[in-house]
Amino acid sequence: MTTPNTTQSVKILAVGAALGSVRDLFAKIKSIDAKHGKFDCVLCVGDFFGPLQDASAHDGTQDECYIMQGNHPLPEDVIEKYADTGGELCKDVFLLNKSALVTTVQGLRIACLGGIYNPDIYASSEAAPGFASPFYTAHTVERLLSNTLSKSTTGQNYSSLAAVRDSASSSQLVDILLTSDWPASITSNSPAFTSSPMFSVTGSPRLDDVIRKIKPRYHFAGGRGADPPVFWEREPFLWEDEGDRITRFISLGAFGSERVTGKKERWFYAFSIAPSGPQAKRPFNVTKNPFTDSAIRPHKRTFNTAESENFIWGNVEHVEKRSRTDGPSGEKTKPPSGYKCKRCGSSEHLITDCPERTRPPEGYVCRICNVPGHLIRDCPTRHPAGDVGGRKPKEGYLCHSCGSGLHYIEDCPVASQHPSRPRGERAKKGPPKEIGRIKHLIVSIGTECYLTLPKGQIIPTQSAAAGSNISLVPGGGHVLIVPIAHQPTYTTISPDIAPPIIEETEKYKSALRNLYAEYGAAAVFFEVGRLSSKGGHAHIQAVPIPRSLQDKVEDAFIGEGNAQGISFEADTDGALEECRGGRHSYFRVDLPDGGKMVHLMRPHAPFSIQFGRQVLVTLLNMTDRLDWKACILSEEEDKTDVESFRKAFAPFDLSL
Ligand SMILES: *[C@@H]1O[C@H](CO)[C@@H](O)[C@H](O)[C@H]1NC(C)=O
Ligand SMILES: *[C@@H]1O[C@H](CO)[C@@H](O)[C@H](O)[C@H]1NC(C)=O
Ligand SMILES: *[C@@H]1O[C@H](CO)[C@@H](O)[C@H](O)[C@H]1NC(C)=O
Ligand SMILES: *[C@@H]1O[C@H](CO)[C@@H](O)[C@H](O)[C@H]1NC(C)=O
Ligand SMILES: *[C@@H]1O[C@H](CO)[C@@H](O)[C@H](O)[C@H]1NC(C)=O
Repeated sequence: MTTPNTTQSVKILAVGAALGSVRDLFAKIKSIDAKHGKFDCVLCVGDFFGPLQDASAHDGTQDECYIMQGNHPLPEDVIEKYADTGGELCKDVFLLNKSALVTTVQGLRIACLGGIYNPDIYASSEAAPGFASPFYTAHTVERLLSNTLSKSTTGQNYSSLAAVRDSASSSQLVDILLTSDWPASITSNSPAFTSSPMFSVTGSPRLDDVIRKIKPRYHFAGGRGADPPVFWEREPFLWEDEGDRITRFISLGAFGSERVTGKKERWFYAFSIAPSGPQAKRPFNVTKNPFTDSAIRPHKRTFNTAESENFIWGNVEHVEKRSRTDGPSGEKTKPPSGYKCKRCGSSEHLITDCPERTRPPEGYVCRICNVPGHLIRDCPTRHPAGDVGGRKPKEGYLCHSCGSGLHYIEDCPVASQHPSRPRGERAKKGPPKEIGRIKHLIVSIGTECYLTLPKGQIIPTQSAAAGSNISLVPGGGHVLIVPIAHQPTYTTISPDIAPPIIEETEKYKSALRNLYAEYGAAAVFFEVGRLSSKGGHAHIQAVPIPRSLQDKVEDAFIGEGNAQGISFEADTDGALEECRGGRHSYFRVDLPDGGKMVHLMRPHAPFSIQFGRQVLVTLLNMTDRLDWKACILSEEEDKTDVESFRKAFAPFDLSL
């Protein structure tokens, strides 16, 4: 064995999920290698084979290439090959164990946590799942952490490329970590993220713990943190107790993604790393450590009153999932005195509550998720998930709220207006009465969008009008246009699905203009396009104002804007262009004459989500209607408004 040369830097190419496009990937790697190489090794993060279970043949590269398990079970022939060879799938292509630690000839310590986190499986399984299961569990993590401490290899034979260093490792630190998941805290303290959260992230809290222990210098994630995988590089951060060791996190887009429209996410990252030696200079953009700085580390996503108060539907209460073992009241029935459980002999519980009842026999592996430790009937993944994480509906079911066939109404983001919930986690079921309460406000459902009265609309109707009917449009006429796709703003809707949504939104706008005109009113539309890690659901407000005021709208926005430090861009189209793809938070107005106004929100500057409402209630001389909560009507009155509006809108409604 050669003595590792620890001073020379190692050239590494990290690539994102191949998703089965293995030949293409290797061809691409070859050409990158010819141009920028030669690389000492290639690290493939995320799904190499993709969900299609197709382990297509490949001729490999000239570089040593490590692959891992991403979001899916591995194909059977790959698992067999792994069992036969201990890792080498074909020449120079090595499959990393789910809890791998390998040390390269140059002395680099590379750790891998394969698979994904599932809160229902994580703690409940009794053994580490294999490659047939897409998950990692507490056992996998435990094994990984102990591997990082041990002197020897994980038992894999990497002799041809990665002879293992014999020297003992005195610490748990690793040079490079490969995962499919993102750590839950990784976006905390990151200006690059908080100023423009362009995607929603599902992180694994268990991976946070791993990072705190092994403090990788580079961490590559290629899978499910953001779905689909995106390229995102976090600012580096420091570990003060480790001599200012620096960690860099890089998420890679998928190489094998179908390119529907637009450009492919960046999927590779080339770098040099010295196995040891002097630390690089402290980069100028280091941030606070998101894993140790607990004061700033966000806990659970919670409602933050002022900002995420749900002004469309009112605050939606979250119902926490009850623990699986509790009865309906959380209490178990005490057995009568003298009772003995026939199964285990205990007098503490009835046989129906006996823990032995659900324990599978030795060696039993659940055939649904391939994780040992529970019977099939108790499998947490037994019911396949719908698009928003709840149960998948039966064939033919259509959600009554948004019309989708991919989730039940109790999981519908439109119906429940939850702030974005981490995908992959089981949906918390909102109370059914909540859905009952908002459904009655919907006035039109199109293909891509729907139209609904807001709770507490600006225009006073019925009892709020106090006898004097000043509403021009039947039912008041203030409505929201809401895209059914769950997106924080119109600019974050991905380009492949955006065109029909935008087209239908414009059709609704023009239908509303026509309706309002019929009743002597002009239309003002406004949209708060705030990108927020808390989520939110894109929507446009449409408010009818008397025609006599239509020429005063622009000045009203400018005047109130001046008072609040909100300025509008001179080049409206340029500003809108700048917002594309979720690069900027914005506030947009469509004036009665079709003109547009755009304000670009500065990162971190406060912006009142009530700004639009405030301008209009002032213009309408109805400042007492600024607070929507003070304007809420009874359900009966809401229904009457909905009826009147629907009837008046029918001739214009494109969905009919
Ligand atoms: C990983 O390594 C461990 C220990 O050598 C082994 O028991 C396990 O089967 C390997 N496979 C997977 C999928 O992690
Ligand atoms: C490791 O692999 C090499 C070549 O692939 C082989 O010669 C050697 O015997 C293997 N060692 C073990 C311990 O399996
Ligand atoms: C941080 O700065 C380095 C240069 O020191 C740069 O390569 C990297 O892209 C920057 N990262 C972010 C997230 O801005
Ligand atoms: C209020 O007046 C408008 C126009 O005069 C009429 O169309 C509408 O139906 C009235 N609304 C109610 C609730 O009476
Ligand atoms: C605004 O409304 C108040 C009563 O609410 C009224 O006294 C006042 O004259 C109105 N102003 C205008 C400009 O219409």
